[in-house]
Amino acid sequence: MKPNYDHPLRPQYHFTPEANWLNDPNGMVYYEGEYHLFYQHHPESTVWGPMHWGHAVSKDLVNWEHLPIALYPDHNGTIFSGSAVVDWEDTSGFFDGKSGLVAIYTQTETIPDSQLSKQRQSIAYSKDNGRTWTAYAGNPVLTDERFVDFRDPKVFWHADTERWIMVLAAGDRLCLYYSTNLKEWTFASEFGAKEGSHDGVWECPDLFQLPVEGQEGKEKWVLIVSIGDNEKLPEGSRTQYFIGDFDGITFTNDDEPESVLWMDHGRDNYAGVTWSDVQSGDRLLIGWMNNWKYANIIPAGEWRGAMTLPRRLSLRQQEEGVRLIQEVPEALMEMRADRYEWRDEQISPGSNLLQGLKGELFEIAAEFETDSAVEFGFKLRMGNENETIVGYDTAAGQLFIDRTRSGLLDFHPQFGCRHGAPLHAGNGRVKLQIWVDRSSIELFANDGEAALTDLIFPLTGSDGIELYAKGGNVWLRSLQLFPLKSVYAASVSEAVNQ
Ligand code: FRU
Repeated sequence: MKPNYDHPLRPQYHFTPEANWLNDPNGMVYYEGEYHLFYQHHPESTVWGPMHWGHAVSKDLVNWEHLPIALYPDHNGTIFSGSAVVDWEDTSGFFDGKSGLVAIYTQTETIPDSQLSKQRQSIAYSKDNGRTWTAYAGNPVLTDERFVDFRDPKVFWHADTERWIMVLAAGDRLCLYYSTNLKEWTFASEFGAKEGSHDGVWECPDLFQLPVEGQEGKEKWVLIVSIGDNEKLPEGSRTQYFIGDFDGITFTNDDEPESVLWMDHGRDNYAGVTWSDVQSGDRLLIGWMNNWKYANIIPAGEWRGAMTLPRRLSLRQQEEGVRLIQEVPEALMEMRADRYEWRDEQISPGSNLLQGLKGELFEIAAEFETDSAVEFGFKLRMGNENETIVGYDTAAGQLFIDRTRSGLLDFHPQFGCRHGAPLHAGNGRVKLQIWVDRSSIELFANDGEAALTDLIFPLTGSDGIELYAKGGNVWLRSLQLFPLKSVYAASVSEAVNQ
């Protein structure tokens, strides 16, 4: 049966499985013109269970073709998160001297008479562009009985040492390994037992090098680590990163061990990792747009779970140090269906420049110049009883999303909340880019310096849009509003009707 893509909460341009459960993105790799996206999938239920790797491919990062399940549980256990690489030189010997895809992933088996799962790393290869996979007969390729949590291998080719590197989460730290053939792994080093945030178990690491914008020849390594939910904290599962150096063996952190850098200040961007082998050289990340605090009980239909938009990562030198920048790749601008524009408008309390515009799917690009207003921003997905606010608090210098009245909330006591990120308004300017879908908001500020990703579940018909100022005026220097196309365009109604 064809899925109902027109469900009122079903994302219209974010990736969702055709049906049933989705969590982490896995095995992202670009090969022969296709972006592959695998994902944690329970094919028989809309809640988490025995994990498989679901699979989809895209040529443009916008339209995805669903393919059959790539990896099924076998005698080594279910299939947890992991990565995939192109083995260009056939270092593994799987490809008769040609190139092919190798997936590296965790398998879990419950230890008899205990609740503990034994986690080991396995590999599988594909000679037909990821359509079919063969598990390596020598699996598992990496075990360590000392760790209960030992998972989510991310593998990449390290050109300087001419070896594969694996970075793996092991409870409260990461373990790094190297290999020449993807089958035999040697321990290299550990990182993190005393660094960054330990609010939850460490999961889904990634490690890669990026140039620093505008600084000729300067490159830094970025280490991403997701941290699991902690019942005592409202934030739930979230993702931190470190900036530093990597010499093929050891990662060294540039910041103080106690400093914590969050990748996203919203509640719903978890387990994000990057694509391998992207030919353009772009470093593209995608995350699971959800939070373990309530992932299994969010309102949904025949599917449950979506990915964030893909993001292009870069590094910018800030006063405090080198920091991660996230921007939506150019390719996604193809979704723009129309365009409304304004310039140099003074926004005062009580007015609404956007009166009459309605929408469920749209992108906003706005630049403000602060004036006497103590707060300004947008009210989105507004209905009689609900709205989500994306705003800037000028006195606190804080960008925020307030979803305390965003629609369906009562499935979890901590879902309705307001949270934010510090944002400096240089020369009084604040730039916002906002992507709105049927059940999410992604907010980027000051050209990717801050990101906030949040799920929302607006009540049916909540499609009003307001531009507001509080306690005084604000200058709107420019505003563009782009109604967006649904990827299921033929099957759903118009994006914005005036
Ligand atoms: C992160 C995670 C991973 C694990 C997978 C299981 O969300 O817990 O650590 O491999 O999900 O589905």
